[in-house]
Amino acid sequence: MPSPLSAETIKSNLNTIRIGSEILVFDVVNSTNDVAKRYLEKNITEGLVLIAESQTRGRGRMGRNWMSLPGVGLYLSVILQPKIQPRRLPQLTLLAGLATTLAINEITHQKALLKWPNDILLKGKKCCGILCETHPARSGETGVIIGIGINANHSLSDFPDELKSTATSLMIETGSAIDRCALVCSLIGHLDQQYDAFLNNEDQTIMEKWLENSDMVGKKITVSHGESVIHGTALGLDSDGRLLMRSEKGDELAFDSGEVSLHQP
Ligand code: BTN
Repeated sequence: MPSPLSAETIKSNLNTIRIGSEILVFDVVNSTNDVAKRYLEKNITEGLVLIAESQTRGRGRMGRNWMSLPGVGLYLSVILQPKIQPRRLPQLTLLAGLATTLAINEITHQKALLKWPNDILLKGKKCCGILCETHPARSGETGVIIGIGINANHSLSDFPDELKSTATSLMIETGSAIDRCALVCSLIGHLDQQYDAFLNNEDQTIMEKWLENSDMVGKKITVSHGESVIHGTALGLDSDGRLLMRSEKGDELAFDSGEVSLHQP
């Protein structure tokens, strides 16, 4: 049985400015993002981190389910209340993906890669997903919830058949069990550093680092956006963090949402 996460141990290993100001670890919740919404309706400090050992209704992007087996994964939500223009909100999704990639690299000594908007891949398979949502805060600010799910110690047999060819875990790729406490401490540390950069308006630097940790640029991709499916080549990000693509017809397109598939060269 893996050792359970402890809020006290995590907190004692942190040296952060904002994120991790308070840490709560739950045994089972429906979804840490839903619990975060309830906390936003109370008086809370920014940086509260909610962690669950398992979720009964873990949610992914596009209304998908996020498999949340007990003890093997990392399921957490971070609550932020930045006083910013709404147009900067997508940058928070990018910074969350960047911070999580840096933490995965630090713990696994491997090179994880970002796939827009915020999937993280190890050897081409998804090991982490991020669901950012907003919810009104009691303070009157817009509350931002960054929900992160990492497949840490899953075995291949933990994944349903339909995910076996596209999903992976840090343990599968490294061949050894991951210390989830070290992973969560590294993650909170990187999130705190990147959030500090964001509050100092270093959006450009965050996007440059995001691109350095992705291999999408120049790759053939397909973007599913609503009813449309568009084939083309990834060009990069625009100043608002939208995905830029050159379609096969030669048009330059920018996407603020959608699902991307990468084509192998
Ligand atoms: C995706 O790739 O579709 C996003 C997955 C996000 C999963 C995390 S697990 C913690 C948090 N709580 C949820 O219900 N979802 C996010």
